[in-house]
Amino acid sequence: MFTIGVLASGKGSNLQAIIDYIKTEKIRVKVGIVLSDNPDSAALNIAERAGINGYCIPEDKHKTFLSPGIEKKYVKTLREHGVELVCLAGFMRVLKKYFMESFTGKIINIHPSLLPAFPGLASWEQALCYGVRFTGCTTHFVEYGVDTGPIILQAVVPVLREDTAETLHKRIQEKEHIIYPLTVRLIAEGKVSISERKVHISN
Ligand code: GRF
Repeated sequence: MFTIGVLASGKGSNLQAIIDYIKTEKIRVKVGIVLSDNPDSAALNIAERAGINGYCIPEDKHKTFLSPGIEKKYVKTLREHGVELVCLAGFMRVLKKYFMESFTGKIINIHPSLLPAFPGLASWEQALCYGVRFTGCTTHFVEYGVDTGPIILQAVVPVLREDTAETLHKRIQEKEHIIYPLTVRLIAEGKVSISERKVHISN
């Protein structure tokens, strides 16, 4: 069984989508652990309902990253649960050196835009303000930059004239819930490789 760990700070809809996909598609993937920096994250309740170990490891000193001691706790816990792939799903902290080096090439993220457009926060609002006709979502490997890293899958969402930030985000999330579980599956099945920052997906 290929074991993943999910890190989430918010409502955890991508975690739920991954759990549901594993169940319905009967793939050989297991969510070994869910970790959050936020004790109120719904992801922890989702984990509990699904019978998955979920822990909050809070960080008080910094808002946007984890201090080295806290990173060590995350890494230790992920390792103790046999995690082979770390999936960031709305985890609102940038990972630093210790974490990155502990899981080199084994951390992925989902971002709510067609990267490299609109990195950072509230990308759906950025897309709306900019006036693009299409936006979407991207799964990618994580590297030191924010929302950079080799792109794995993308899905396109049209921007409608009547869209508000909320309606657009909702439609983007519907696509996220398709491409994130699929990305996990492709990696678990050994179908994803990287060459000169380009991701190749085999059949
Ligand atoms: C998603 O929009 C994802 O693209 C971004 O954070 C959000 C997490 O949503 N990185 P959820 O907590 O999985 O519902």
